[in-house]
Amino acid sequence: MPNSQKSNYKDGDSYTRKSREEGYRSRASFKLKEINSKESLLNKGMSVLDLGSFPGGWTQVSKECVGNRGKVVGVDIKEIVKINECLFIHKSIDKLTKEDFNKFEPILPFDLVLSDMAPNISGIRERDNAQMIYLIDKTLFAIDAFLKVGGSAVIKVFQGESLDYTREALIDRFKKIKVFKPKSSRSNSKETYIIGKKLVKENE
Ligand SMILES: C[S@@+](CC[C@H](N)C(=O)[O-])C[C@H]1O[C@@H](n2cnc3c(N)ncnc32)[C@H](O)[C@@H]1O
Repeated sequence: MPNSQKSNYKDGDSYTRKSREEGYRSRASFKLKEINSKESLLNKGMSVLDLGSFPGGWTQVSKECVGNRGKVVGVDIKEIVKINECLFIHKSIDKLTKEDFNKFEPILPFDLVLSDMAPNISGIRERDNAQMIYLIDKTLFAIDAFLKVGGSAVIKVFQGESLDYTREALIDRFKKIKVFKPKSSRSNSKETYIIGKKLVKENE
């Protein structure tokens, strides 16, 4: 096995072990922790929309940060095992409508929208990029509909086409945009994250 691959597996194992030891449902938890320690996005009392929330690592980290007064709503096509005091919509983002959020009216609009969604990777670059861009468009719909003016967003993208596409879409919406790849993201993975701070566009 080449050295670069060996070190990737080693990294992966250490974060997976650490997530089990610390009671997180996924190694992805550490990606959000790193993003948050760099950008200070999660604060006490906030409301957070977590798109692609299964198995729940980002939901756990978000809930820890927003505390008792804060609210976290997860959305995933896969059914999640409930996390205390967190809310879930078990649905594909395709099918998400404004009516799904009627019952969350008191906590709308959200302070922060997170998306860690990714398509099933086929290995066919054009197809994977097209599917990622489709999920990003749905995330942009959620941002336009449910994020408060002044709020922030974190969106998983693939380096290349979907990163360029998302950066362009966020320039019109946010005052500040940053791209950040956490150390806990495998170095051989194309994923990276775009952070948009201070939404300037009025909610529709
Ligand atoms: C990398 S995982 C998220 C891990 C999660 N952030 C955590 O910390 O545990 C990506 C998730 O996106 C979800 N997903 C993919 N396509 C989706 C869609 N169309 N609607 C809702 N969720 C979707 C998958 O079901 C999967 O659970």
